[in-house]
Amino acid sequence: MSVPDTVLTNDDLSAIVDTSDEWIRSRTGIRERRIASDKETTATLGLKAAQRALEVADILPVELDMIIVATSTPENIFPSTASLIQSWLGANKAGAFDLSAACSGFVYAVDMATQAIRTGRIQKALVIGSETMTRVLDWSDRGTCILFGDGAGAVVLEASPVEGGVLSAVLRSDGSGSDLLGIPTVGSYDMAPNETLPDVHRMSKMHMNGGEVFKFATRVIGESINQALDLAGLTIKDLSLIVPHQANLRIIAAAARGLKVEENLFFVNLDRYGNTSAASIPIALVEAIQQGRIKENDHIAFVGFGGGLTWASMVVKWGAPKPEDRTKALNRQRREAIYAFAFWRGRLLRLSRQINNLIKRIRPEQGRMERLRRRVDRQDFK
Ligand code: ACO
Repeated sequence: MSVPDTVLTNDDLSAIVDTSDEWIRSRTGIRERRIASDKETTATLGLKAAQRALEVADILPVELDMIIVATSTPENIFPSTASLIQSWLGANKAGAFDLSAACSGFVYAVDMATQAIRTGRIQKALVIGSETMTRVLDWSDRGTCILFGDGAGAVVLEASPVEGGVLSAVLRSDGSGSDLLGIPTVGSYDMAPNETLPDVHRMSKMHMNGGEVFKFATRVIGESINQALDLAGLTIKDLSLIVPHQANLRIIAAAARGLKVEENLFFVNLDRYGNTSAASIPIALVEAIQQGRIKENDHIAFVGFGGGLTWASMVVKWGAPKPEDRTKALNRQRREAIYAFAFWRGRLLRLSRQINNLIKRIRPEQGRMERLRRRVDRQDFK
């Protein structure tokens, strides 16, 4: 995982909008969140998380077959954030794409990678959830700006002869709730002929109907976890941990009541990071592992919900191969060398294209004269 260093507390927020630490903590459970610096973006946070995931899995970037970035705050419409990260990692054998399913995006992306591995088409995939939500917030709307933060988390998935890993997944969407939560941008309708271009800055701000989203979330969490458990042939009693999307402590408490389980079956770290959208589940997963809450062969569940509306649950039998310590130091050096090579390769390719363009601009007439001379030589005057 990778989160920015800068912490924005509830007290800091109360200097920006009419709110208080007491209101935010009692209504959401959030105490503070991380804010990206000017130099940090969805891609740079995602890259750091990806490099750490490769380190933990002890594999080389060139071994990756697929990179998926789940995000609602991409660098561009295209090129994808995943393609940028692919090139910075030097993962030159990987396909790369972004996946848009808001806060359910990470669970969707893990399922896509799992399916590709299960068919035998690919062996290794990198799945990243990365967001810079604070760049798309309306800082005058106290109902939304207090909820979100920035960060990234990543996992490596690989084919294994050992039974386990992702046992089941339930992915759902109800686009009739598209008005309840969104980040509109200048889209195909706005760009149609005769349409006047909307105010881009206003268009990229998040809007949300908090009450309706709250009701939707509490309904779908329990329902979809039970569906995923059914598919895996398990019951809620088999789960040792649920890693939910970190939106609001009251949503998690209501879901626990609905499932008739103790609240501490749900892992919670939203108090320190707020809602980091597609990044919240992988960040929570990393901290759950660090705190010893997930052990080999445990059955755990992920559940995400958010804009679209979308929601998704997944049951996983946890198992991570332990790399040989012997290979670690050598592989670390190899990874560093690949990152350095990828960095300079990208820079040099872009520089050479810039120089080429410059030369073409300086000598356009020469190019035309050259073509004319060749046509004269061929006596081609048609
Ligand atoms: N500080 C102080 N007062 C506030 C604040 C604030 N930050 N925000 C709202 N209020 C006020 C309201 O103006 C309202 O005042 P009024 O009664 O005088 O009109 C009062 O507090 C109650 O407002 P509600 O909106 O009813 O408050 P609620 O208890 O529903 O909490 C919240 C609002 C926290 C947004 C809640 O609805 C929620 O968490 N909803 C789910 C949101 C969510 O998780 N979204 C993300 C989904 S994931 C994704 O895809 C992005």
